[in-house]
Amino acid sequence: MEKLKSRLLVVEDEAPQRKIIADILIKEGFTVQEAPDGEAALTALETSPPDLILCDWRMPRMTGGELLTEVRKREFPCAFIIMTAYGSISHAVEAIRLGADDYLTKPFERDALLIAVRRVLRTRQLEHENLRLKEEIADRDQLGELVGRAESMQRLYRTLKKIAATDATVLINGESGTGKELVARTLHLESGRAKGPFVAVNCAAIPETLMESELFGYEKGAFTGANQRRVGKFEEAQGGTLFLDEIPSMPLPLQAALLRVLQERRFTRLGGRGEVECDVRIVAASNRDLGKLVSEGAFREDLFYRLNVVPVQIPALRDRREDVPLLAQEFLKRFSAKYGISIEPLPPNVLRCLMEYSWPGNVRELSNVIERLVLLADEGSVTLADLPPEIARPTATPGCPFRLPAMGIQWESMEEGLLKQALELAGGNRTNAAKLLGMSYKTFMYRLEKFSL
Ligand SMILES: Nc1ncnc2c1ncn2[C@@H]1O[C@H](COP(=O)(O)OP(=O)(O)OP(=O)(O)O)[C@@H](O)[C@H]1O
Ligand SMILES: [Mg+2]
Repeated sequence: MEKLKSRLLVVEDEAPQRKIIADILIKEGFTVQEAPDGEAALTALETSPPDLILCDWRMPRMTGGELLTEVRKREFPCAFIIMTAYGSISHAVEAIRLGADDYLTKPFERDALLIAVRRVLRTRQLEHENLRLKEEIADRDQLGELVGRAESMQRLYRTLKKIAATDATVLINGESGTGKELVARTLHLESGRAKGPFVAVNCAAIPETLMESELFGYEKGAFTGANQRRVGKFEEAQGGTLFLDEIPSMPLPLQAALLRVLQERRFTRLGGRGEVECDVRIVAASNRDLGKLVSEGAFREDLFYRLNVVPVQIPALRDRREDVPLLAQEFLKRFSAKYGISIEPLPPNVLRCLMEYSWPGNVRELSNVIERLVLLADEGSVTLADLPPEIARPTATPGCPFRLPAMGIQWESMEEGLLKQALELAGGNRTNAAKLLGMSYKTFMYRLEKFSL
């Protein structure tokens, strides 16, 4: 299989020998180039790098070892087999040290040559595959500015990597503050459109009456007040990505217009006659279930399907709590740098509280909390007391199964409640009820009396 595709370069100063080697390889189906010396080899390398170089050691001007050094220094991704004369094993050793994949001692048989060539090519191929697979599978802490190592984030990274290579329309779904805009931006930067513009439009923030001209632009005189031509967001985003945030807020008539652009890849400015070709990748985002809005008649079904070519779901922060410490430390670093305040890493009890909080506002809320901590922390370190009360909850203490809620409790009524529960659980048997509370019978009776139970 591989021999049909593999390209070999034979570097040998003695023409007859070079020819013999080349002929053997050509007969086996390899594509073979020849070079009489190191310099010619380098020129060949620059124009069309081979998969494997077979090179004699002893050559005028540049030795095989020198060529090898040059090849490795310039990081040409090709395999290298050195050919040394019988009895000069020290050259072979030297070549391996310099990064050769194998060596052949001359004179060699046809079979020895082919076995070495195939083995080296095969190893190279496997190495490349491994590297590629590793890059694909390796868990990462970050993709662009996106931080997170939870499994759900790994899936997200893989999806983004995959679809970045395409122009497919993407629909991003996620609760408020999960990073929809950041994901759209990352997708843009990972794509072939990275050098083009990234234009974000918040459909909820533009008045309905202005949205059409905002998106498609207008010609001079299109309406009163249109004193000159203005390009819209679609045109601004030419060659790049257009991010349509809060897409459910797009009014129905405009949904029809958007559908047309998605299908025909062209649009007309308001008051214009000609059509404008549109080379824009559309990424839309919603924090509501768009499919549900479709079934309620609030969103066009055909547009939904056009947008939902690749759905991307961003997990809520409470569903990837293991990422909270990582995000918290990252934000701590960012805000310390931003405000020039140095802060010690967050202590374990603070991190634990952060991890146990439910984060209704997701990553944005966490980012805000950390920013506040950086600004308010005393003496460069953060303690539980610096956390907002809804987050700061003391951790369960050993031997105590209860957690004191942030708003505190009424001790007396809790005591009374526990006594009643113990009695109920023990079916009215006071001895057993006392045992449930780890009290002597006497103490238990004393407390019952206290509450006149
Ligand atoms: N995975 C993440 N890693 C690092 N920062 C993040 C991550 N997700 C979100 N953020 C940060 O949190 C903030 C909110 O993100 P973003 O604006 O993208 O969220 P959103 O989903 O668009 O929110 P909304 O629905 O409120 O518009 C931003 O400051 C963003 O940089
Ligand atoms: Mg947003």
